[in-house]
Amino acid sequence: MSVSPIRLGINVDHVATLRNARGGILPDPVRAALLAIEAGADGITAHLREDRRHIRDTDMARLKQEISKPLNFEMAVTDEMVGIALATRPHAVCLVPERRMELTTEGGLDVVRQRAALAPAIAKFNEAHIRTSLFISPDPAQIEMAARLKAPVIEIHTGTWCDALAERNGKADAEWERIVEGARLAHSLGLEVHAGHGLDYATAETIAALSQVVELNIGHFLMGEALFVGLAQAIGTMRAAMARGRAKAGQA
Ligand code: PXP
Repeated sequence: MSVSPIRLGINVDHVATLRNARGGILPDPVRAALLAIEAGADGITAHLREDRRHIRDTDMARLKQEISKPLNFEMAVTDEMVGIALATRPHAVCLVPERRMELTTEGGLDVVRQRAALAPAIAKFNEAHIRTSLFISPDPAQIEMAARLKAPVIEIHTGTWCDALAERNGKADAEWERIVEGARLAHSLGLEVHAGHGLDYATAETIAALSQVVELNIGHFLMGEALFVGLAQAIGTMRAAMARGRAKAGQA
C-alpha cells in the first residue's frame, strides 16, 4: 500500500509572543519562518488573533510576501478576519474558535452549532481557491458536518490526547482511539486530514503512523526546543520523528 508523504507546518506565533513581550521588532517571526523553511518545513502557519496578542497584521502581510512555501492563515470566523484573509490570499485558512481569555486554542470549533456562520465563509474561500481547514475535535458529528459544509480539510485537535499523556490521567488510550476513528471517518468522507496542538517529538511520531493524516502543524514545543538546540536542529529532529512514524503507516 502506498502512503502519502506527511507534511510539517510550522506555527511561528510564539516568536511574535516573545517579540511582543518587549513591544519592539525582535525576534522577527518572518525570519523564523524563512529559517524553518530552509530547515525543512513544508509550510508556515500563523494565527492572527482578534486581540493581536502575537501575530500582527503586518506579520501576516510580510509572511505572504516573503515565504516560498504555503501560508496557512489561522483565524476566527469573524467578518473582519474573513475580509483580511480574502485580501491576503493565503494558500489556506484554518478556522478556529477564539475566546479572549484563553491561553491558547483550547478546544475545537463547534461546526454543528456554528454551521450557519461557517457555510458562507467556507463558500467564499472555496470560490477564492483558498483551502479551508476546520479545526475540530475528532467527533463524528463534527466531522460529518465539516464534509456537509464542503470544507476540503479538517485539522484534528490533538490537545486533549497530548494533555492526557502528559498528565497520565488514564484517558490517553480512549482519546487516541477517537483520533484514529476520526481520521478514518474523515478520510472516508473525502476530507483531507491534518492534526495539531500540543504535539512533541513522541506524539508527532505516533500520529505520523496514521496514513490518513497528511499534515501536522506544530508551534509551541518546537519554539521551546529552539531555545536550547536552535530552530533548525529542532525541526530536523521533528522531521526524523515523523519519518519514523510514517514508516509504520499502513503496517497495522
Ligand atoms: N493547529 C492549530 C489550529 C492551532 O490553533 C495551534 C495552536 O496555535 C497549533 C496547530 C499548534 O499548536 P502548538 O503550538 O501547541 O504546537
